Amino acid sequence: MDADLIKLVNKLQDTFHNLGGELDMPQLAVVGSQSSGKSSVLETIVGRDFLPRGQGIVTRRPLVLQLIHTVADSSDYTEWGQFLHIDKRFTDFADIRKEIEQETFRVAGQNKGISKLPIHLRIYSPNVLDLTLVDLPGLTKIPVGDQPSDIEKQIRNLVLEYITKPNCVILAVSGANVDLANSEALKLARTVDPQGRRTIGVLTKLDLMDAGTNALDVLTGRVYPLKLGFIGVVNRSQQDINEGKPMEDAAQKEADFFMTHPAYRNIAHKNGTKYLARTLNQVLMNHIRDKLPDMKARLNTLIGQAQQELNSFGDPSLFGDKNQQGALILRLMTQFARDFVSSIEGTNLNIS
Ligand code: GDP
Ligand code: NA
Ligand code: MG
Repeated sequence: MDADLIKLVNKLQDTFHNLGGELDMPQLAVVGSQSSGKSSVLETIVGRDFLPRGQGIVTRRPLVLQLIHTVADSSDYTEWGQFLHIDKRFTDFADIRKEIEQETFRVAGQNKGISKLPIHLRIYSPNVLDLTLVDLPGLTKIPVGDQPSDIEKQIRNLVLEYITKPNCVILAVSGANVDLANSEALKLARTVDPQGRRTIGVLTKLDLMDAGTNALDVLTGRVYPLKLGFIGVVNRSQQDINEGKPMEDAAQKEADFFMTHPAYRNIAHKNGTKYLARTLNQVLMNHIRDKLPDMKARLNTLIGQAQQELNSFGDPSLFGDKNQQGALILRLMTQFARDFVSSIEGTNLNIS
């Protein structure tokens, strides 16, 4: 996550909190067919290895992942996870993955069943901003294992519960090795966001396309209209996962893929996981910008109230002490207002 954005959001959140309000940040949810790469995409956004991924149906309960910004200090660990269902601090991210798997088995059974009961996980880190990400089971058509005959409808309704909220940014994930016209992600996203205002198209598996084909038309927005566009990514393959390929190596491989590919070379700077993260920052910035008028109005009301209180102290020569007190309040308020305004205006809202 972008360090400047983290700083700005924290400052604004503090300010809003002091004003008796709340800066509600959007939720981010991934939608897509089974094994299209949803969990992989979320993981790279967080920048840590901790989600179960793999062939077939792996994500069988919603995972509501709350990122919580902490101030880096000298305590033992600076990054840790905490589940709602178990009173334990997880400092090893591999253990977090195991716990998600176990907790999935416990509630959704051993055999491919799904449950709409979410797993709640908080990740505390100095490298994140307060944001909620939701990993969801993949859209599927044909029941397998213990799945009921209406599994398609069940998963669809489960996903809709999250993405219908106007505050939800939808990451619609489609595999590039499947025809986009058949993308379940885009079909479902369109039902709740018909104008494509809060949907980001994510095209995974560009490395798995048939030789001689490419997705240039999709990536340049000529196939399907989305305001926020399509971003191509290359996640770790199953073999990479099996071999425990580190995140940094995967990121390098992805960057090389785009820069050396004859069809993508010229659009390399507008694709890849890094660019996806930047786009998300931009979306969050725009969201915050939309909230600013409301914050300013609240602040003005507060200053007005303080000013009135000051005036009620009356003739300064008669109330020396009280007036000093009032002047102090005013000074603090003014300082507060100045900090607030500079925190907004000192930040470039157009990250590019
Ligand atoms: P989900 O079911 O949508 O959450 O998908 P996962 O993230 O679990 O990924 C499913 C499988 O696809 C895993 O084996 C991943 O390694 C593989 N995968 C995901 N994205 C890519 C990609 O961009 N390229 C390749 N080669 N494999 C990918
Ligand atoms: Na999967
Ligand atoms: Mg998954």
